[in-house]
Amino acid sequence: MGARSMQKYFGSCHCGAVRFEIDTDFPELTTCDCSICRRKNALMVKVHESRFRLLAGEESLTEYRFHTRTARHYFCKVCGIYPFHRKRVTPDNLGINVYCLRDFDPTGIPVRKALGAAMPSAADSEGMTMETKDHWEKIYSAKTPDAVSWYQPHAELSLRLIRNAGIDLSAPIIDVGGGASTLVDDLLGAGYTDVTVLDLSATALAEARRRLGAIANRARWIEGDVTTVALPLHRFDLWHDRAVFHFLTAPEARAAYVASVLRSVKPGGHVIVATFAENGPAQCSGLPVVRYRADDLHAEFGEPFTLLSHQEETHHTPLGTVQQFVYCYCRKASP
Ligand SMILES: C[S@@+](CC[C@H](N)C(=O)[O-])C[C@H]1O[C@@H](n2cnc3c(N)ncnc32)[C@H](O)[C@@H]1O
Repeated sequence: MGARSMQKYFGSCHCGAVRFEIDTDFPELTTCDCSICRRKNALMVKVHESRFRLLAGEESLTEYRFHTRTARHYFCKVCGIYPFHRKRVTPDNLGINVYCLRDFDPTGIPVRKALGAAMPSAADSEGMTMETKDHWEKIYSAKTPDAVSWYQPHAELSLRLIRNAGIDLSAPIIDVGGGASTLVDDLLGAGYTDVTVLDLSATALAEARRRLGAIANRARWIEGDVTTVALPLHRFDLWHDRAVFHFLTAPEARAAYVASVLRSVKPGGHVIVATFAENGPAQCSGLPVVRYRADDLHAEFGEPFTLLSHQEETHHTPLGTVQQFVYCYCRKASP
């Protein structure tokens, strides 16, 4: 129960260009120790978007995003005041600067100190990762690699796109969520000498290594979650992902994935990401997915990436069904 009764409060920036209204009973106020809240010295109340109304000044707002680029921090373009922001972990809620509220008096309302600085880089908490990892370990333990719906004897389109990228055979390549895919076999076979496979599932990686035998040591293997793993800065010339990004249904997880690409791919590097197309299935391996058109997939990556080409693929699953994929080939901006 809130410290006060539910009521309407009117708020504005300093110059009055931005005006809004909220309904709240002030269950608590929060401060936060993250890098931006400290600088704003913000005291906030959390309000669901259904209890927030922007009355005026949409055009006077400027938006700022940083780090995972998920939270949206708004400022008045005229007077510079921060009136509210859209939150990172609960994006259907806003944090409201209570000092923008008319006649606001904080007396008697409990104040909670939020530990924003210690927040993980993805809203996907450790618990969530473990649950997802468990799912994939079970799948790869229960089925042979050629029985899973995404199986391809050879990842032909991926290979063609990688070859067409024109990178040196010694250029570092990462296959993200490579699982037990044969892409690594074919890359090593084609003479690429610096291939990394990253996957959540130790079982899948062990299966690929077993299949490769002695030459498995020519590749590098990372068991980890692409949204939280710490990849080296500007290490890779080429990032490849077939059927991983589409599992990221939370905006925070997608932002963390993109942050990982930005960090680990060299300026000017190549990024190939394949997901289910808009007419593809709504689930993959029993998990919900986001389906994309090429433009929308590119938009998730944003300005630092230029979409150079895209292509659809009709994948024939071992069960005889078909799945539409879309492959986007982007380049990361050079400095
Ligand atoms: C549908 S399979 C695709 C495998 C492979 N890319 C292919 O095309 O054959 C998805 C793979 O992504 C892995 N995966 C799922 N979420 C992941 C995450 N957050 N980080 C790393 N790998 C992930 C799974 O373990 C699984 O191997």
